[in-house]
Amino acid sequence: MVRSRIVGTGHYAPEFVLTNEALSKRIDTSDEWIFSRTGIRERRVAREGEHTSDLAVEAAKRALEMAGKKATDVDLIIVGTVTADMPMPASAMLLQAKLGSNAPAFDVSAACAGSIYGLSIADQFIRSGTKRCVLVVGADVLSRVVDWEDRTTCVLFGDAAGAMVMVPETREVGGVYSTHLHGDGSQADILKIPAGGSAFPLSADVLAQGLQYVKMNGREVFKIAVRSLVSAVEEALDANGVAASEVAHIISHQANLRIVESVLDKLSIPMERAIVNIQRYGNTSSASVPVTLDEGVRSGRIHEGDLVVMMAIGAGMAWGSTLMRW
Ligand code: UT7
Repeated sequence: MVRSRIVGTGHYAPEFVLTNEALSKRIDTSDEWIFSRTGIRERRVAREGEHTSDLAVEAAKRALEMAGKKATDVDLIIVGTVTADMPMPASAMLLQAKLGSNAPAFDVSAACAGSIYGLSIADQFIRSGTKRCVLVVGADVLSRVVDWEDRTTCVLFGDAAGAMVMVPETREVGGVYSTHLHGDGSQADILKIPAGGSAFPLSADVLAQGLQYVKMNGREVFKIAVRSLVSAVEEALDANGVAASEVAHIISHQANLRIVESVLDKLSIPMERAIVNIQRYGNTSSASVPVTLDEGVRSGRIHEGDLVVMMAIGAGMAWGSTLMRW
């Protein structure tokens, strides 16, 4: 069976930078609190009229350019998002039209694990020989679904999109070696947006209660995140007979620097191996992993032949890992 390989990456973050300093003038928080608890200094916020598919199209164009592919070469589009432009159609379809592609396209709802879920799905299509050029995008505009008066959540999130172009691997050694996905729906309550679906359709009453915003039990999410990510990375290493010391780069979902530090400490992987950009973007949900990968690639930090582990966890709880040789 042929493996898949990422041959193009790209990302886009909206221009507007919202710093901790600026936030602390609006709500009862401080740069010191936010930075020391999370590692975040600033985040990007989409401008009015800029939607998830708009961020996605910019990231996708950059990834296609790196891959040397045209939009018409793409035969499947997968977008990980929990902030689609609208409930229907899928943002992946809006992206398809904006790119000028006619590929089948669908969204994956796995919150911050959306890109890892998307990558795994793309990998299966390529391994089976069904598709030959898959565009996987993680794009979220969480600034539209956080309560800007709730300091326990609004300081954490930011807007961005990241993209990966995947094709069959032609090298003898290299490409995506494995993907592992997991979920625990019994933890759905600890991180959710209650309204806007069939449970609580939007109404004046629902809006008055603020049920359209992200609700999170941060402490619980933190504990489950560390435990789950450690085991997902161990699973990736075990499945491939790879030692933690052989991993050159860790591309983690950037939700909280303390989560990444804690996971790597438990795995005895030095923090220098992690590519970190949370200070500039905050938690950008499904965009986080591909944005970080793209920055690692474009900065020249990730070299051909390097072993790379990617990991993410988000609402669901949904999580996963992948191991690849760049
Ligand atoms: O993709 C997955 C998404 N989410 C995550 O991964 C989040 C995981 N969780 C976390 O990152 C952390 O739990 C947080 C950063 C969200 C919170 O850190 P914490 O150390 O667990 O703080 P806490 O929630 O226990 O709150 C400690 C105190 C509270 O005050 P009291 O009750 O001790 O007086 C909060 O009210 O900090 C207060 N607080 C704040 N103070 C200033 C909460 N948010 C803020 C804030 N500024 N923004």
